[in-house]
Amino acid sequence: MGKLLGQSSSGENGVATILVTGGCGFIGSNYVRLVLQQEPNTRVINFDALTYAGNAANLKDCEANPNYRLVVGDIGDRAAVEKVFAEESPNEVVHFAAESHVDRSILDSSPFIRTNVQGTQVMLDVSRVHNIERYVQVSTDEVYGSLGDTGFFTEETPLAPNSPYAASKAASDLLVRSYVHTHRFPAIITRCSNNYGPFQFPEKLIPLFISNLQSDLAVPVYGDGLQVRDWIHVVDHCQGIHAALRKGKVGMVYNLGGLCEKTNMELTKTLIHLLGKPETLIRHVADRPGHDRRYAIDCSLAEKELGWRPTTIFEDGLRETVEWYRENRAWADEIKSGAYRQYYRAQYGHRGM
Ligand code: NAD
Ligand code: DAU
Repeated sequence: MGKLLGQSSSGENGVATILVTGGCGFIGSNYVRLVLQQEPNTRVINFDALTYAGNAANLKDCEANPNYRLVVGDIGDRAAVEKVFAEESPNEVVHFAAESHVDRSILDSSPFIRTNVQGTQVMLDVSRVHNIERYVQVSTDEVYGSLGDTGFFTEETPLAPNSPYAASKAASDLLVRSYVHTHRFPAIITRCSNNYGPFQFPEKLIPLFISNLQSDLAVPVYGDGLQVRDWIHVVDHCQGIHAALRKGKVGMVYNLGGLCEKTNMELTKTLIHLLGKPETLIRHVADRPGHDRRYAIDCSLAEKELGWRPTTIFEDGLRETVEWYRENRAWADEIKSGAYRQYYRAQYGHRGM
């Protein structure tokens, strides 16, 4: 990967400027840090609306880096997006910004349509006007729907999104596809499985369960807990996105995955053991409506064309993640003291938590 990350695309004076949207979120902040650490000649402009999920402090350690700038703005606001393009003349875009939580999309899908669909349309339009050289759409395996007990999602699997979140991501992927086809827009789509690692908002399974367990609170397992997810360390995902930016072929979709399928129950028990807590803290609660049963990714195309494969061993990555949440407890506690409480009540109150 070192070789790949050393190659910046043109840009003025040989310096590439990447406009990253959603860089204050979980994956975006890990990506911004990775690029700044590995490419001293790349400038990173982080355009983020700082929604409930965005936290500028996730990149506190990068603030002094002259190659980093945070611009607070909404991708649905065309004037704000045009302004940042005019100011910074980025030559590449990596588009992470999205509403990302399935359960929230079930409670209210409106922000998902606005940001994930309309926001992506704005990003595409403005990127096109500014003759962006490369654009990566960060998408998800959830656009493929759900698998049975066997098989894998490939890039040829038909789109069959089941949640409003997944539908909004599929819609944005189709917009990207149409811009490539109609306007020869230089976009690439990556579709990844479930990420874990530092800075993940404590509404998603792993950080939520770690946080509850740290406080000896019960953990809410939806339904029978036998749903399967394919877990990938966030840094492996970020490496895959960057490989797609540098080496991907325009118009291609690349699946990225962790080659690591676990049932939610297996994962829950592993977390309980890592934190030294009793299994009596497991609560089976009402299932997620429309819950996808199994995701599994075939990422052999990315291996063949991008020279990428995930390298983190799940057991090591998960242990380090638990350690990170132990050492950064104040980070999650601060989040959980705000509007998060209302969300937790709406999502889990009627489930008896
Ligand atoms: P996140 O919720 O942690 O972060 C989203 C970020 O986008 C936040 O910083 C937020 O402030 C920003 N944002 C939201 N709406 C915005 C708007 N209108 N304008 C500008 N910024 C806005 O999300 P994440 O988990 O880091 O996911 C990032 C991307 O990766 C998303 O596109 C998601 O669909 C995709 N993805 C996530 C996973 C996963 O496991 N988390 C897996 C595959 C793909
Ligand atoms: O597959 C990629 C997707 O992974 C991304 O596109 C999404 O942005 C990301 O949020 C994630 O979606 P999931 O719905 O799979 O992740 P989540 O952490 O919400 O849930 C993981 C599994 O755990 C899922 O089967 C639901 C279950 N779950 C989740 C929560 C929050 C529970 O059993 N209890 C819970 O409280």
